Amino acid sequence: MKSDCIRTTICQERKKDPIEMLHSGQLVKVCAPMVRYSKLAFRTLVRKYSCDLCYTPMIVAADFVRSIKARDSEFTTNQGDCPLIVQFAANDARLLSDAARIVCPYANGIDINCGCPQRWAMAEGYGACLINQPELVRDMVKQVRNQVENPTFSVSIKIRIHDDLTRTVDLCRKAEATGVSWITVHGRTAEERHQPVHYEAIKIIKENMSIPVIANGDIRNLKEAKNVWHITGTDGKKKKMTLQWVAVATFLYAEIGLILIFCLPFIPPQRWQKIFSFTVWGKIATFWNKAFLTIIVLLIVLFLDAVREVRKYSSTPAIEKGLTSRPGAYEHAQMKLFRSQRNLYISGFSLFFWLVLRRLVILITQLAKELSNKGVLKTQAENTNEAAKKFMEENERLKRLLKSYAKEEEHILEAENKKLVEDQEKLKTELKKTSDALSKAQNDVMTMRMQSEHLSKEYDRLLKEHAELQVLKLLTSPWPDENYSRACFKIRHGKIVQGKTVRRACEL
Ligand SMILES: Cc1cc2nc3c(=O)[nH]c(=O)nc-3n(C[C@H](O)[C@H](O)[C@H](O)COP(=O)(O)O)c2cc1C
Repeated sequence: MKSDCIRTTICQERKKDPIEMLHSGQLVKVCAPMVRYSKLAFRTLVRKYSCDLCYTPMIVAADFVRSIKARDSEFTTNQGDCPLIVQFAANDARLLSDAARIVCPYANGIDINCGCPQRWAMAEGYGACLINQPELVRDMVKQVRNQVENPTFSVSIKIRIHDDLTRTVDLCRKAEATGVSWITVHGRTAEERHQPVHYEAIKIIKENMSIPVIANGDIRNLKEAKNVWHITGTDGKKKKMTLQWVAVATFLYAEIGLILIFCLPFIPPQRWQKIFSFTVWGKIATFWNKAFLTIIVLLIVLFLDAVREVRKYSSTPAIEKGLTSRPGAYEHAQMKLFRSQRNLYISGFSLFFWLVLRRLVILITQLAKELSNKGVLKTQAENTNEAAKKFMEENERLKRLLKSYAKEEEHILEAENKKLVEDQEKLKTELKKTSDALSKAQNDVMTMRMQSEHLSKEYDRLLKEHAELQVLKLLTSPWPDENYSRACFKIRHGKIVQGKTVRRACEL
């Protein structure tokens, strides 16, 4: 075996473990095995252009084991030639394991060529004819695992697909169960040469595997490599998956955060209601139901996918078999199981919290409405109470006023009444006095009248007497004159003559 390195040139960069690289989730750029081409010089060249993993050309394991000359001509390497996979054409488990043991110190792993469609190879029982002999492949892998002490030494296979894809999937599963580190799938059948590559088939195979799958065929540049990576979802494409789950996990954290914020006791529902009533929400609300349902559907799909993954990795025989055949396989399967379970929880809880969140928003809205109604009613009740209180106070005041007025009036009336009574009494007394005085006056008048009458009578009588006396005098006097006759006349007719006259008469 030719090597511009001695045994100490064992790849110093073993840290660049291809298995780790393929599990990293990053795009891994692989230089495929090519007879006559992918030798050390070529590998050195492509590594300068950031090729991540290189294969040697296919080496017939039997020749490699048997002939030093064959080894020296077929395999050369150096210190920088890492990570490196040596590809063997083999149909015998023991020969392959011997070859693997020889090459083990200078490489990171071996690859079994199960895809070479060349007639000579098929005739020898190498290459693509092995895809129809899964048991032989299993034996060879097992044998290498048993013979090579280094547990990190990879054993991979490179296959072509069957017309019936289920057979390829079955082969891959068997290989996985046997403990292969990864599978490279050239997306053509053994009969196909330049037909388009069946990337969909590679994708299906990848979906059914838990170990890394490398897509191969029709990749001529980095752009095409990335494109195939996206189409097939093969290893290195986990980054997208990871991003997807990172998005779901972020969504879950956001949900939890929102639920916690919604449940904060010092933010009243009315404030949430105010926030919900922002115009921006109104615009969003039109799409809200659609967005809600879309997210529900997405989460359900992711959840079901996660369930499928968990079932797949829980039941994979690789867990048990890998434990004995390849220590790394067990961890790998466990890691896959862990990831799928994590995804299951993430999607499940996201779905659950999404429903909780919606319910919470509805409840907060309802609560805020109830509280605002209650607030309005409370204000109304308070206003009514206030008004009633005011009315009652006013009523009381009026009552008191009325009472005081009534009392005052009563007092006034009483006083007035009393005064009236007193006045009445006074008037009565006055009346009595007056009536007494009147009756007395009447009596006096009567008396006076009587006296007057009496006096008039007396006067008349006196006058009469006087007249009589005058007459008598005249009669008794010697000389009756004219005046005397006139006086006599007057007396006769009972009339009082003028004083002067009378007096004269009397004098007469
Ligand atoms: C010149 C040449 C040599 C090849 N030698 C090998 C080989 O030794 N082992 C192997 O598995 N595939 C070999 N292949 C196939 C490639 O590894 C790879 O699968 C194929 O080139 C991809 O298909 P494409 O050429 O249509 O892109 C070879 C291909 C070419 C063109």
